[in-house]
Amino acid sequence: MTFPTVSLIGAGPGDPGLITVRGLKLVQQAEVVIYDRLVHPEVVQEAPAEALRIYVGKETGLHYVPQEQINALLVSHARQGLRVVRLKGGDPFVFGRGGEEAKALVDAGIPFEIVPGVSSAIAVPAYAGIPVTHRKVATSFAVVTGHEEGGKDIASRDWATLAATVDTLVILMGVKGLAKIVDHLLSRGCSPETPVAMIHWGTTSEQHTVTGTLTDIIAKATAAGLEPPVVTVIGEVVALREHLQWFPEVVTAQHETLQEMRIRTPRPDETGIAGGTVDDVDSRTRPARTHSQEVP
Ligand SMILES: C[S@@+](CC[C@H](N)C(=O)[O-])C[C@H]1O[C@@H](n2cnc3c(N)ncnc32)[C@H](O)[C@@H]1O
Repeated sequence: MTFPTVSLIGAGPGDPGLITVRGLKLVQQAEVVIYDRLVHPEVVQEAPAEALRIYVGKETGLHYVPQEQINALLVSHARQGLRVVRLKGGDPFVFGRGGEEAKALVDAGIPFEIVPGVSSAIAVPAYAGIPVTHRKVATSFAVVTGHEEGGKDIASRDWATLAATVDTLVILMGVKGLAKIVDHLLSRGCSPETPVAMIHWGTTSEQHTVTGTLTDIIAKATAAGLEPPVVTVIGEVVALREHLQWFPEVVTAQHETLQEMRIRTPRPDETGIAGGTVDDVDSRTRPARTHSQEVP
């Protein structure tokens, strides 16, 4: 297999089994691995023992590496002739800043390859038993960010058109902004009974889903103490979960807080995912104990 100087690889949404065959082969030959918070530690461990591992994930309250610095890291290691793997959660081009990093490589004249990944936008709902389309229920879906950036308010999105033309809405980075999004959808004619699911740490042993309607989802998410990362699905497909749920989840009784959760059917082979520091992979085993920022 040929190895371009830099490979921008989608590591999948959490479950380490969801990286592609090509992505895994490239990781196994890497000399430098630069990786994000949502990448499972087992994927990083696939790199040769002598490979340099650089953690550049974003976590609330902690210093993180600015994007320009990540771009510079890619360029400087590639210029040393090293095989550089840039591992990103999900797919690198879905709210992953993969386009910015690829452009930095183009500008620096460095050859690169994109290895698409399984995006959380589809895989996380699937692990919650929610197909984003279904012949009889939904024939279109849109993936949108709920994150406000660069002074751009959530209100600037055309929610009326989205709600009128798309059957299923998948929202990434939408925990903080969800109340506003729900308000916009309701004020633009969405039925208050529209089903909603919020899936926390999907595809991992920490997966937990809160379901409701546009009317009560905010109260339910607040009661459950939901924090990022969460994929939110809005639309009739959510109701299919009742029949299609297949993946064991962390469960909470209605009155319990997240901390009081009990694990019903843990998967012994899964360690979960979390943030950490350079070469600190082994300690990154419990995703729910760290907090990610909703930053692409
Ligand atoms: C910066 S975006 C990156 C998306 C990624 N490139 C992808 O294709 O999945 C991060 C957001 O993706 C969603 N996300 C990623 N992995 C997730 C997971 N395992 N469970 C729930 N949400 C997840 C959350 O909305 C999170 O805030």
